[in-house]
Amino acid sequence: MTTWISRFLFLALAWSFISAVIAFEENDNHLAVVHIINSFPNNSEPVWVQCNSRGRKNNPKEFTLKVGEDFQWDVTLNTLYYCRALWGRVFASWHVFQPRRDVSHGTVYWQIRQDGFFLSWDNSSWVKREMWETE
Ligand SMILES: *[C@@H]1O[C@H](CO)[C@@H](O)[C@H](O)[C@H]1NC(C)=O
Ligand SMILES: *[C@@H]1O[C@H](CO)[C@@H](O)[C@H](O)[C@H]1NC(C)=O
Repeated sequence: MTTWISRFLFLALAWSFISAVIAFEENDNHLAVVHIINSFPNNSEPVWVQCNSRGRKNNPKEFTLKVGEDFQWDVTLNTLYYCRALWGRVFASWHVFQPRRDVSHGTVYWQIRQDGFFLSWDNSSWVKREMWETE
């Protein structure tokens, strides 16, 4: 009798612990903001972008950025986020959020330019991190 009760209590406790861990991983655990900015010259064609995070809860975002537009979203999972971009006949794929690289900065800015993908953590100094590819 006592064994049954303690087993039941143990299972209930274990279950609530597991649920809490899952909730922590999946819910609004705000870690950073990612901005993706189209910095092409005026009158350029828009850029098509699709982003996703690695892991269990896939929530792909797809958007088209006109020149000057800034698409932003909250990073809620402590995992890699990556995007693919397509502009005319060139394309690219890059890591927009890497936990170890970015989480301490709080905000990650990406400029998409004709000559590549530039990273900034302060929206002011930019470093080229990725290039367009042509097939
Ligand atoms: C590009 O367009 C913006 C908004 O219309 C304008 O403010 C800016 O001067 C333009 N830049 C160039 C180089 O023409
Ligand atoms: C980033 O800087 C640009 C140019 O100074 C400004 O127009 C824009 O509003 C800034 N974006 C954010 C999110 O602060």
